[in-house]
Amino acid sequence: MKLVIATNNRGKIREIRDKFSDIRGLTLVTPDSFPNPPVVVEDGNSFLENAMKKGVEIARYTNLPSMADDSGLVVDALGGRPGVHSARYGGESSTDADRNRLLLDEMKGLPPGKRGARFVCVIAIALPDGATYSAEGTCEGVIAERMTGDGGFGYDPVLYLPELGRTMAELTLEEKNLISHRAKALDAAREILLKLIRQE
Ligand code: IMP
Repeated sequence: MKLVIATNNRGKIREIRDKFSDIRGLTLVTPDSFPNPPVVVEDGNSFLENAMKKGVEIARYTNLPSMADDSGLVVDALGGRPGVHSARYGGESSTDADRNRLLLDEMKGLPPGKRGARFVCVIAIALPDGATYSAEGTCEGVIAERMTGDGGFGYDPVLYLPELGRTMAELTLEEKNLISHRAKALDAAREILLKLIRQE
């Protein structure tokens, strides 16, 4: 099976290649190997809606099975924000550090019991015949009092993992890739792909 990974994010592509490298009969391609691939606007109200939109549009355009993801940080005390708006929280021109500072400000004074949050990743797999499948992974933690660690990206310095006693940004890439929301969603997506390959 040829599967189009509906992202041009190098980090995601590397992680997906690594996770699926041992699946026999699977060839991964990226949208940039097609002329003028569509730019899909992520304007949905849920991670699933956004991932499906990307997966379905790329499957339609390439006439090949496609896999897309959407992810973000969900904070209980903020009613689920920044959620699907994680990349744009605080405005288009904000940096990761700006977003983390804004989040820490919004959470100021909240006791440990009210700082629950999680990273969520939803993966959509879309086939050219219109069939769709989805997989989800979460990584639970609490919003720290301050930024710590310089690994990872995005909100990693503020998501503290009580079981490990570190923030996500204090993990090595190998450690993060074992427990992250994206890794868990990819493990579930892998099972879907194995079934689809067997059915071919
Ligand atoms: P997207 O799935 O590429 O649209 O990512 C949405 C946003 O969620 C990113 O810009 C980050 O701010 C945040 N995010 C997603 N995954 C992670 C992660 O593993 N660590 C930290 N932030 C993340």
